[in-house]
Amino acid sequence: MRVGLLTGGGDCPGLNAVIRAVVVKGARAYGDEFLGFADGWRGVVEDHVVELEVERCRDLLPTGGTILGTSRTNPLSQDGGAERVIATLAARGIDALVAIGGEDTLGVAARLYERGVQVVGVPKTIDNDLSGTEVTFGFDTAVQVATDAIDRLRTTAESHHRVIVCEVMGRHAGWIAVHAGIAGGAAEILIPEEPFDIGAVCDRLRRRHEGGRFSSVVVVAEGAAPCEPFDPQAGDHGVAPAPLDEFGHVRLGGVSNALASEIERRTGYEARVTILGHTQRGGTPTAFDRVLATRFGVAAIEAVHDGDFGKMMALQGGRIVRVGLADASGMAKNVDPALVHDVAEVFLW
Ligand code: F6P
Repeated sequence: MRVGLLTGGGDCPGLNAVIRAVVVKGARAYGDEFLGFADGWRGVVEDHVVELEVERCRDLLPTGGTILGTSRTNPLSQDGGAERVIATLAARGIDALVAIGGEDTLGVAARLYERGVQVVGVPKTIDNDLSGTEVTFGFDTAVQVATDAIDRLRTTAESHHRVIVCEVMGRHAGWIAVHAGIAGGAAEILIPEEPFDIGAVCDRLRRRHEGGRFSSVVVVAEGAAPCEPFDPQAGDHGVAPAPLDEFGHVRLGGVSNALASEIERRTGYEARVTILGHTQRGGTPTAFDRVLATRFGVAAIEAVHDGDFGKMMALQGGRIVRVGLADASGMAKNVDPALVHDVAEVFLW
């Protein structure tokens, strides 16, 4: 078969491991040929391809980023975009497409499948917020990066008796914040799923500092927001409006600055900010992510040869299964409240 591959949306450690697994398994087991599309759906819309052979996959396993490039291009938001995708696939003689991405990339794949495109999906996002799979690859690496950072922030916070607000990624869901916050022993963990009460946060910090702990690391997901604006006159929590991407998402980042200022203003404790940003997405994947990405890649090419299109590979109960693309990309997977209230909160004081 002639199989196309693309990686879309924000990059993520383990993308190259998936590409390697699809190509090596497909070439060795089935004699497939592969063609990469550059920069996600943009490469299919614009017919921009990258040759992909087994040889190109040598040494790819530990390499971060994606050799295919990526973008947040949404062909469905462009006039005639879906038709151009279908035309490119036909002109290039592509029998099947493997789309590696998050809710946006796989949402497009689901819509194109309805229009006859033979596509299977592989779930990717450091945010871990895709439904249908217990974990996405890239998440474990991001949590490790954030945990290492929290460990480092703690010692400098202790030396200076400061509050350090550490902002991690997590647009809709606070998976990274909760996991890294638990692993790093954070004093507060603030997530998008549960708007926070700044008064209560400051009260807890005061209790903690008055109780003999003179420093705190507060972990906040970039999508977290207070239940009431810090400054009612401002009508927001002090973060400037940002541009939207082609999927209508606002560019986040910066809630920690407003939060740290407000903590300092209310408590008098000196507060500092560290925004981990793209350090969480770059670099080499952890062993867990390499293995998960490899299993997803092998499963994806098997689904192609079973003719089981319109499916996304998923991890459920330790096994790789296939779930409907539309189901997986339709709704964000929020943090389990039990993890927050029964586990994380035991250690927040
Ligand atoms: O891929 C998801 C994500 O990591 C979000 O947590 C974050 O809001 C977004 O990507 C940032 O994307 P970009 O690199 O396009 O600014």
